[in-house]
Parts: sequence; structure tokens; C-alpha cells
Amino acid sequence: MAEQQEKIFQDKVDHEIRIEPKDWMPDQYRKTLIRQMSQHAHSEIVGMLPEGNWITRAPSLRRKATLIAKVQDEAGHGLYLYSAAETLGISRAEMIDQLHSGKTKYSSIFNYPTLTWADIGAIGWLVDGAAIMNQVPLCRASYGPYARAMIRICKEESFHQRQGFEILLTLSKGSEEQKRMCQDAIDRWWWPAVMMFGPNDESSPHTKQSVAWKIKRFTNDELRQKFIDVCAEQVHILGMKIPDPDLKWNEQTKHYDFGAINWDEFWNVVNGNGPCNKERLAARIKAHEEGAWVREAAIAYAEKKKRKEKVIA
Ligand code: 3HC
Repeated sequence: MAEQQEKIFQDKVDHEIRIEPKDWMPDQYRKTLIRQMSQHAHSEIVGMLPEGNWITRAPSLRRKATLIAKVQDEAGHGLYLYSAAETLGISRAEMIDQLHSGKTKYSSIFNYPTLTWADIGAIGWLVDGAAIMNQVPLCRASYGPYARAMIRICKEESFHQRQGFEILLTLSKGSEEQKRMCQDAIDRWWWPAVMMFGPNDESSPHTKQSVAWKIKRFTNDELRQKFIDVCAEQVHILGMKIPDPDLKWNEQTKHYDFGAINWDEFWNVVNGNGPCNKERLAARIKAHEEGAWVREAAIAYAEKKKRKEKVIA
């Protein structure tokens, strides 16, 4: 029976028929979706912290309003993704507990500090740029709720990337000090952004299966290469440099060759020893604890409303 169900399931995936919450699915498919979607949601929520750090220090009202809008968007992205993950049978509370206990991950990139205003530009251009590269294919993921959540998210991501690039473009046309600030931010955010795509394909335990199940439409290395190829061209508009002496156009492959990635740094950050890991998790736990009264009030209100409706009915 299970074999037959497995075959029907894979046929649907192979024929681009979306898998919906009520459909039969292999346990492992469900597990890997819960793993990836909950960690994606965590990344969106934790990702608010490094940027939120500059809302009170934005250099103008326009920059402040844009940054507030972006950070609010990230919160919404997290909520869409938690809701989409809940369709697989895991509760929001469970996912939040897993984040706070360190049982599940969030993107390594958010464990780096935002030292100057230019970092907000570098995050928009590079981090949201990398997120778009990885998220646009997810709009075609085989699991319906995930793919649909991604469509709305990707529309907002392009605004995020553009506003970041515009911040850097403005700085790149400014004083010598502003140009130095711009290049310094690119220097510090470039390699962590390249690492966002995950380990090389040969050392990725999930990629092969996720591609077979069309959760991933491209492998980590394929998306990383697309990202590098795009940024290697865009950086000329800024008049800045990408901090990789091995970055060079390869006429044979029609891609940019690039330098070695520091995988020790990557795994060090993923395993909790990055510059801001402890601070990020402490901030999330504190916000969750301080927000308990809001959740309790909302639940009490909803229960009171339900009792009232019962009496009237
Ligand atoms: N940071 C932290 N952990 C990472 C990572 C990263 N950049 N890249 C990989 N890992 C982890 C994986 O989670 C996995 O650990 P696990 O088994 O405990 O979950 C392990 O390293 C092996 O990696 P794999 O490549 O085999 O794992 P995946 O197949 O899950 O691929 C991924 C990793 C490419 C991040 C994939 O999960 C994915 O595409 N996720 C959805 C997109 C996403 O989460 N993006 C994160 C940023 S969101 C963002 O930037 C928001 C924007 O608005 C700023």
C-alpha cells in the first residue's frame, strides 16, 4: 500500500501537480519541509534584529520610513512561513520553542553585526539579493502552501534589494568617508552572503532529495553561482570592489570563477559561535517572554468572544 502511495506521490511531483496539506506524503517529505520552512521563518524573524538596530539611527526620515517598512515586511514573511509550516502538523509554539532551545537553525548571515549605516545597504543588496536568488525558485516548490507563501514574499524582497542597492549607490557618490564606509560594508558582508546558500552540493545532506521532491529547483552551488554572476556585474555600477581576488570571468563556463569559501567560518557560525549568535537568540527569547501578555490577552479575548457567540446561538 505505502509503496503504491509513494509512487502516486512521486508521479504527482514529477508531473508538477502541487502537493496540498490533505494529500498523502512520505513522512520524510513532511519532515524536511517542516525543517526547511520553520528555519526559513526563523531566519525572517531573527533577520529583523540586525536591521532594526539602525531604525533609530537612519540618516533621514525617508531612510527611516523605508527601513521600518522593510523590517515590518520581514515580520510578515516570518508569519506567512510559520502559518505555511503549521499546515504540516507542527504548532507555532513548538517551532518557537525549537528556535529558542537551539534545536532548529536560522540563517547564518544574521549572526553578523551591523556596524555602520552602509551595512543596511549591503544587507539589502547582498542578503536580500541572495534571498531572492534562493526564494524565487521556491515559488515553484512542490508543496502548495510553501510555494504560495513565497510568491508574496518575493514581491516584497525585490523592494528590499533595490532599496539596499540605492543606499550603497548614494554612498558611492558621496564623500571619501562615505565611499570608504560603502566598501567596508561590502567587504564584511560579501562572503557571509555567499555562504547563505549552504554547503557545497557534495557536502549537503539534503539537496539531492530536496531536488528529487522539487522542494529545491536548483542546488546550493547553482544558486550561489547565479548570485555571484549577478553581483560581479552590479558592483561596477557602485564603483566598488568585491573582496575576492580570484573573482574572474571564465569565457569557457560563461560564469565568474571565485575564491575558496571559508567553510570553517560557516560551520562555526551555524554551530552557534558567530559574532552575534548569543545576542540574537537572547533578544528573541526576551521579546517572546515580554510578549506573553499580548498572546494571553488575545487568547482570552477570542475565548470570551466564542463563549458569547455560543450563548447567542
Ligand atoms: N545558515 C544556517 N544553516 C544552514 C545554512 C545557513 N546559511 N545553510 C545550510 N544550513 C544548514 C541546513 O539547515 C542543514 O542543517 P539541518 O539539517 O539542521 O537543517 C545543514 O546546514 C545542511 O545544509 P543543506 O544545504 O543540506 O540543507 P538545505 O537543503 O535545507 O539547504 C538552505 C539549506 C539553502 C538554506 C535551504 O534550507 C533553503 O533554501 N531554505 C529556504 C530559504 C532560507 O531559509 N533562506 C534563509 C534566509 S531568509 C532571508 O534571508 C530573509 C530575507 O528577507 C533577508
